[in-house]
Order: sequence, then C-alpha cells, then structure tokens
Amino acid sequence: MTAPLVVLVGPMGAGKTTVGRLLAERLGVGFRDTDDDVEAAEGRTVSDIFVESGEEHFRAAERAAVARGLTEHEGVLALGGGAVMAEETRALLEGQRVVFLRVGLADAASRVGLGASRPLLLGNVRGTMKTLLDERTPVYEGVATAVVDTDGLTPSDVADAVLEMVPHD
Ligand code: S3P
Repeated sequence: MTAPLVVLVGPMGAGKTTVGRLLAERLGVGFRDTDDDVEAAEGRTVSDIFVESGEEHFRAAERAAVARGLTEHEGVLALGGGAVMAEETRALLEGQRVVFLRVGLADAASRVGLGASRPLLLGNVRGTMKTLLDERTPVYEGVATAVVDTDGLTPSDVADAVLEMVPHD
C-alpha cells in the first residue's frame, strides 16, 4: 500500500495549499488537496455543497476523499481544515508523517481575507476563526508528528521548513 510522503494539516489560512504546492515542486512529487478531490467527486464547489446539501454531506465526502488520498497518493497531501475532526480520519492518520502548519488568529484572518470561498467563515471571519482555532488546535497537535509555526513566514519559508522534515535527495 502506498502512503503520502507528507500530509499537511492545519486550519484555514495556515497555507496548506500554497505551501503544499511549493513543497511538492521542491520534492519533485505530486500535490493533492482533499478539497479539490471533494469538488471533483461532487462536480460542484465546496461552497455549493455546503449551501445545497449541508455540512454533514460535505464531511462524508471529505472523509471518503481523505481515505482515497491516503491510499492512492504518494506525494504531498493537504487536508481541508476540518478533516481531522472525524475520528475515522484521525485513525487513518496514525503511522503517517503529518505536519501541522500552525497559525495564530491574526495571520489566519489576514490570509483568508473575507473568507468568501469558505462557507464556515461567512458573516464573522475573525470570531469564527477564533472558535475554530481554540477547538481544533489540540486535535491538530494530536495527529501531528511535527509542527511548523507559520506566523510571519512566507509560503516559501514554510515549504523549506517542512522540506527539512521529509526525506529527500
Ligand atoms: C473547512 C476548511 C476548508 C474546506 C471547508 C471547511 C474547515 O478547507 O474544507 O470550507 O472546516 O475548516 P481549507 O482548510 O483548505 O480552507
């Protein structure tokens, strides 16, 4: 069975997608993102799935996308920010190289901007982000085998820091 070289976890605004792409490029491997996989499987955007079918439907599709990514993908795999809240997903992450991209409230809020493409943040980006960070940070820490503090760093700096944690030539 194959497994990703590294799995990136962390909240919205941690930079999982931007950093993941850079990292994959530097490692010469593929990049995969569970949000993209859910959108491809459903034929609609994450926002549309939330609005039309609700969060529970999205979470089920996300669990399936994570399970597929973990068994099919050998490169860098980024998980959507809420994926680790599923016990099934946490169990699948055991034994994997999982890097938590940590971000504080100020940087996370500034990176997501108005949060227009993130349905959970609509209405009150900063307040919701704070609640999610408080609730989820211990969960990210629990699944992670390494942590990178991203506050004040560029995506390129963060990619370099993760690169150090991954076997490469
Ligand atoms: C979510 C994070 C998003 C996306 C969805 C829900 C969350 O992914 O899966 O909007 O619950 O934190 P990113 O972390 O890639 O923005």
